[in-house]
Amino acid sequence: MRGAGPAVRAARGALPRGRPLLLLLAAAALCARAGAAEPCAAPCSCRRGLLDCSRQRLPSGPGPRRIPPLPAGTTGLVHNTIPEINAEQLQVYLSLENLDLSSNLISEIKASSFPRMQLKYLNLSNNRITTLEAGCLDNLSSSLMVIKLNRNRISMIPPKIFRLPHVQFLELKRNRIKIVESLTFQGLESLKSLKMQRNGISRLMDGAFFGLGNIEELELEHNNLTEVNKGWLYGLRTLQQLYVSQNAISRISPDAWEFCQRLAELDLSYNQLTRLKESAFVGLGLLEKLNLGDNRINHIADGVFRGLTNLQTLDLRNNEISWAIEDANEAFVGLSRLDKLILQGNQIKSITKKAFSGLEGLEHLDLSNNAIMSIQENAFAQAQLKELVLNTSSLLCDCQLKWLPQWLSESSLLQAVSVSCAHPEWLAGQSLLSVDPDDFVCDNFPKPQIRVHPESTVALRGTNVTLTCSAVSSSDSPMATAWRKDSELLYDAEVENFARYQQQSGEVLEFSTVLHLFNVNFTDEGKYQCIVTNHFGSNYSNKAKLTVNELPSFLKTPMDLTIRTGAMARLECAAEGHPTPQISWQKDGGTDFPAARERRMHVMPEDDVFFIANVKMEDMGIYSCMAQNVAGGLSAMPP
Ligand SMILES: *[C@@H]1O[C@H](CO)[C@@H](O)[C@H](O)[C@H]1NC(C)=O
Ligand SMILES: *[C@@H]1O[C@H](CO)[C@@H](O)[C@H](O)[C@H]1NC(C)=O
Ligand SMILES: *[C@@H]1O[C@H](CO)[C@@H](O)[C@H](O)[C@H]1NC(C)=O
Ligand SMILES: *[C@@H]1O[C@H](CO)[C@@H](O)[C@H](O)[C@H]1NC(C)=O
Ligand SMILES: *[C@@H]1O[C@H](CO)[C@@H](O)[C@H](O)[C@H]1NC(C)=O
Ligand SMILES: *[C@@H]1O[C@H](CO)[C@@H](O)[C@H](O)[C@H]1NC(C)=O
Ligand SMILES: *[C@@H]1O[C@H](CO)[C@@H](O)[C@H](O)[C@H]1NC(C)=O
Repeated sequence: MRGAGPAVRAARGALPRGRPLLLLLAAAALCARAGAAEPCAAPCSCRRGLLDCSRQRLPSGPGPRRIPPLPAGTTGLVHNTIPEINAEQLQVYLSLENLDLSSNLISEIKASSFPRMQLKYLNLSNNRITTLEAGCLDNLSSSLMVIKLNRNRISMIPPKIFRLPHVQFLELKRNRIKIVESLTFQGLESLKSLKMQRNGISRLMDGAFFGLGNIEELELEHNNLTEVNKGWLYGLRTLQQLYVSQNAISRISPDAWEFCQRLAELDLSYNQLTRLKESAFVGLGLLEKLNLGDNRINHIADGVFRGLTNLQTLDLRNNEISWAIEDANEAFVGLSRLDKLILQGNQIKSITKKAFSGLEGLEHLDLSNNAIMSIQENAFAQAQLKELVLNTSSLLCDCQLKWLPQWLSESSLLQAVSVSCAHPEWLAGQSLLSVDPDDFVCDNFPKPQIRVHPESTVALRGTNVTLTCSAVSSSDSPMATAWRKDSELLYDAEVENFARYQQQSGEVLEFSTVLHLFNVNFTDEGKYQCIVTNHFGSNYSNKAKLTVNELPSFLKTPMDLTIRTGAMARLECAAEGHPTPQISWQKDGGTDFPAARERRMHVMPEDDVFFIANVKMEDMGIYSCMAQNVAGGLSAMPP
């Protein structure tokens, strides 16, 4: 699945595929011929055109161990003990296109290592390289297309080391690069794929990948990144695949994707995301595959996926999702092309009929491993399911579930379904599919049912507000409550809970929860909701809106004025309050202003100042200023 996307295939297709292969074959033939005439320098062997000395010690002369004479055309020297490369020894191979020096003991690439040569493919993986000297690859710049430096000991990439305008594939996996500085990859304008897995990268500086004007695939798995932001994504305009799985990412900054709007595949699995904010995926209108599996996501903001109109696969497995699905939030609205949704291994107990609304194209849905207790009728009605993976042995098999067995068999969705009842007790353990339709009865209601919802409230700043919620259940299972404000759990809220038994065609447990908000301020404004949970599931109250107002108060009031006729009168009045008060003026307690009739008066409703030009005798009087908002009004006049 990985790396097999159309973009990568296209990228690979762009390499002159046939040629390196041909070269290898030619080399193999040469090697074989050489082997017939004069055997490969024993104890080495020629395999697939490679001179493989399989860790055997090469005959060591007095001087340093050297690159041994190679049969002409041989492309590689793997598993040797070559400790260094130098240009002099490579002189004989100036026309070589394919050089494999992997699995040697090379510790350094010096400026003098490579003569000017025609290499296209260079494999230096599995050596001991710590140092890349400035300019060390410059002599290969006119031809090199692929360079592999995996499994070395590089901890720092010097600036301007990669001035290699034809390189399309660069691999730096399993090195020791912790920080990638800005502009590190400048000079790689043809690069299509960069692999830097397993380095322990903890910081990518702003512009770390700037200059990669043709990059399609960036692989950064198994590092130590903590954040996705537009700083390090800067300049990746052509990027199509980004893999940052197995890092420590806990934050996606709001405008992260500003520069990567061509992204088609994004893998953020195995990170530490807990919350998906509304802005998390803004700009990714071309995204087709999104993997968020194996994080700790519990909060999904309303509308977070709204812009992902091309998304086909969304993987949310093994997170801590519950209320985002349980509460009728319509979490997936906007994903009209989604084909596959994986919610396996979350904490979803109940599925409402709105949970999957908007998913008109959904064909594959995986809800396995969730201990689901209830599924409302029509929950899957909008989708075109061809596959439903569902396993639960926690079902509450009452009248509300009666629809499910029949629907499952009519929709031919039984293959991947393994469902059995936990309740009522007399059906416990029985497969849902074998329950007699008459046995789905509602003679009690073990799930909490909210009877009293919190009410929308308008309060003055500084007052105390209480919001009340109460639920009933026919079961003895203890109820727990939580309050949310704007979909966020309130952890330090002042809450009082009461439980009592009520007589109501049998005994029912009533549970009430009261949220106290003391000395409310504007920051307390928002939508409040209670959640009542017991063993059988959760119920979510309506959302109550709290509005906090403040009466107007004056900042400036008008002063007495004595002026000559013909002059300009200026009166000031300003007030604050919440919402912002409107200012109005009166003259002698009324709204008849001679100056207004003659258009000599200038006032705007929110202005601090009131002017009368060319003052006349009839303008004389008592002017008062009124400040008013929904909370109330007050008036001021000169003392
Ligand atoms: C490059 O070297 C690595 C390490 O020895 C080896 O696993 C890999 O197969 C080589 N790549 C190619 C294409 O020969
Ligand atoms: C490049 O090759 C030339 C000759 O082949 C050599 O003199 C020079 O040292 C090499 N290195 C650099 C960085 O130019
Ligand atoms: C990642 O960072 C943590 C804390 O900074 C550190 O303990 C851990 O060793 C790092 N992991 C790697 C693979 O570098
Ligand atoms: C559901 O399936 C998963 C793996 O397929 C398994 O680990 C789990 O125990 C199953 N749960 C139930 C309730 O059958
Ligand atoms: C929540 O309780 C109400 C009754 O107050 C009920 O109609 C509704 O179905 C319950 N919701 C769920 C998801 O069970
Ligand atoms: C709000 O409640 C606090 C604590 O109970 C109390 O001291 C205060 O007088 C109350 N304020 C108003 C305006 O009722
Ligand atoms: C109430 O909110 C205002 C504006 O947000 C702030 O200036 C003020 O300090 C707050 N008052 C209290 C008591 O928190």
